Amino acid sequence: MRPFESIVILTGAGLSAESGVSTFRDPEGIWSKYDWREVATPEGFDSNPAYVHEFYNMRRRIHRDIKPNAAHFALARLENEHRGVTVITQNVDALHEAAGSKSLIHMHGEAMRALCAACGTSVPWTDDLSVATPCPSCGSVGRMRPDVVWFGEMPYHMERISELLSECDLFISIGTSGHVYPAASFVAEARAAGAHTVELNLEPSQGARLFAEGIYGPATEVVPEYVHKLLSVRTFE
Ligand code: APR
Ligand code: ZN
Repeated sequence: MRPFESIVILTGAGLSAESGVSTFRDPEGIWSKYDWREVATPEGFDSNPAYVHEFYNMRRRIHRDIKPNAAHFALARLENEHRGVTVITQNVDALHEAAGSKSLIHMHGEAMRALCAACGTSVPWTDDLSVATPCPSCGSVGRMRPDVVWFGEMPYHMERISELLSECDLFISIGTSGHVYPAASFVAEARAAGAHTVELNLEPSQGARLFAEGIYGPATEVVPEYVHKLLSVRTFE
């Protein structure tokens, strides 16, 4: 394995699975229990905001009690010991932060933040939200929503993400099924930039054939192992 300079890591729900957070598309996943059109689209929120608030209030309560796992800690260690590491997460939990990751982009927003659709203010939020919650900034009632990116909405920080992908020499995708765009197109962007591309996942994802390398197993095993390998191949100063 050659030393790498700029490492971009995309993470998905599979990274948090061993912390007890349900994934979306596994057999018992969230989308087997809820219709994503009703709880994760602007149209769903417009037609039944109380139901959408209930869905995210339930997830926010779960997120309050979860802990990072060995895979989150391994990624934080990599950032700590290797210059030029950025994690782009699709996850709306705060487990990367809790494990110590700092160079982190939440492209689908964060369950523990609330956004005012009237004035655009985004604030940390750990309690329940409801249609009666006033905006702490402009006072509007009925305009507060979870600060997460719903289907059909533009993910956050896409310009910065494209820049990172165009400059990276290693792209690692961890715990994502490769179903949802634009995240599923990142591997092609990284390859076009000449990066080595690796998928670490429980099983081959929808986009497995797009990766130069695939290492399969539970994240808490394959991620620490891969980080250890990366750190043992040092770029000589
Ligand atoms: N270790 C590693 N990978 C795992 C583990 C595990 N313990 N458990 C599950 N996986 C893998 C599954 O094999 C699957 O490929 O994680 C992936 C989870 O896929 P999804 O449930 O589709 O989650 P994700 O890819 O993150 O979804 C992307 O879709 O619903 C939207 O906005 C939501 O961010 C989410 C996006
Ligand atoms: Zn407001």
